[in-house]
Amino acid sequence: MELLYLLISSIVFFFFLLHVIHRNHNRNRKMPPGPTGLPVIGNLLDLGPKPHESLAKLSKKHGPLMTIRLGSITSVVASTPDAAREILQRNDEACSGRIVPDAVTALADHDAAVLWIPANDEWRTIRKALNTYLTHQHKLDTLRDLRQNVVDGMLDFLNESGRKKASVDIGKLTFAVALNQMSNTCVSQNVTNYESDDIGGFKTAVKTLMEVDGKFNIADIFPVLKPLDPQNIRRQAKAAYDWFDKVTEGYITERLKHRESKLPRFGDMLDSLLDYSEANEAEFNFKHIKILLVDLFLAGTETSSNTTEWAMTELLLNPDMFSRVRKEVSTVVGEDGKIQEAKILDLPYLHAVIKETMRLHLSVPLLVPHKTESEVKLGEYIVPRNTQILVNAWAMARDPKYWQNPITFKPERFLENELDYKGQHFEFIPFGSGRRMCPGIPLAQRVVSLMVASLVYHYDWNLPHAREEMDMNDIFGLTLLRATPLVATPMPVIQRE
Ligand code: HEM
Repeated sequence: MELLYLLISSIVFFFFLLHVIHRNHNRNRKMPPGPTGLPVIGNLLDLGPKPHESLAKLSKKHGPLMTIRLGSITSVVASTPDAAREILQRNDEACSGRIVPDAVTALADHDAAVLWIPANDEWRTIRKALNTYLTHQHKLDTLRDLRQNVVDGMLDFLNESGRKKASVDIGKLTFAVALNQMSNTCVSQNVTNYESDDIGGFKTAVKTLMEVDGKFNIADIFPVLKPLDPQNIRRQAKAAYDWFDKVTEGYITERLKHRESKLPRFGDMLDSLLDYSEANEAEFNFKHIKILLVDLFLAGTETSSNTTEWAMTELLLNPDMFSRVRKEVSTVVGEDGKIQEAKILDLPYLHAVIKETMRLHLSVPLLVPHKTESEVKLGEYIVPRNTQILVNAWAMARDPKYWQNPITFKPERFLENELDYKGQHFEFIPFGSGRRMCPGIPLAQRVVSLMVASLVYHYDWNLPHAREEMDMNDIFGLTLLRATPLVATPMPVIQRE
């Protein structure tokens, strides 16, 4: 009996001790403060249709590091440059994970997608391939003519539109150009044209995925709903991903046949990736090539075209700036009247216009959400493993503490400082920072610069309405799109030979 009593009291004491340890442990594990949420849905109603704006407002009350809860997902939101530095620089490794949205799981082999896998060895292999075969300075220079040819096609289309006095949807046009530049870089062919809405389904597939991957999905915050797919998001994503899978499979099969035929190589990205996979079969195979092609079309086209459309919007609203860009570009144009990509990259005012566009109209306002891979100390707080991390780059790029008249478009501000978007100045991180930072910066800079320079140098533009009537609203999604497309009529002024 006594023995039993001793046993029971020992067990009770053991659990009491566990409880005390757990309580003390939790007391030290303090999450950042945040708005009180409702039962079950948490802070869902606080977010509204423009989460980047709502979160910026909430952070004024709750602080630079803030916790919000959406259903079963807890997120920590960084809203100041210091908070972003704490996450993306000081705790880069611990905060480098991703939460895979339900829509993305519709992609067969999504666990090989550079955008979504953890920052592990496989991810490093893919990033290395990207760096070597796409965004390395030498490779970019080698593939320059491909990009230039696509822009020549755009100019032919605009000359024809000008002749017919037809207006042009600049966002649609630049999206088609960005798609063709990417497809020529990857597989040496155009995938769309400028006249029709879509050919072969390419534009539709990319647009669908950009839309559904960026849509708020109730199944992401209540995982029990995933099997039901209540908003039909995964089904739509699957149709588009399956379409892509077939198309990329076709590219690879055809290319392998071409390589067997011993005809001259194309020398494009696909050839390089096939060489790379032959040399590194164990780490990088056809599955990786297929998914990487899809990732590039998703990550590297709408971001660039959208930035170009916003830059053109601002320049059409500010004729002095428009003239200044044209004048600057004209100093480096060859005798044939052609703009060479290599010559415009160092133009300070053009570059300032592009930076200012990326500041004021951030393409990816909350970056791509990160996730903690381990428990991590952020400032005075302890954040558990598997917490979603949102970095509100949009809020930082408009913080009056760092920017004078932050909502005014003023490229000159970038002439007066050394601020760059390469991830070191945390008040300006349109491409992110740290290991998950966008690998496409050098390509994006070239693509956007060439498009903006060409559109400004060769044409005057007629808006269908007064400048004051320009709608400057945006819509939140995977990228921050213009709510109303920018439409204008090109009037050719300076012709190429
Ligand atoms: C103006 C154009 C662009 C903008 C504003 C942009 C912005 C971004 C941002 C904010 C991220 C997420 C960073 C993070 O998670 O912290 C990202 C990731 C990425 N971007 Fe870009 N991007 C652009 C163009 C491109 C281009 C041209 C490519 C093609 C190479 C590209 C490929 C990628 C890839 C593959 C990732 C995922 C990286 C990873 O998760 O490891 N982007 N981009």
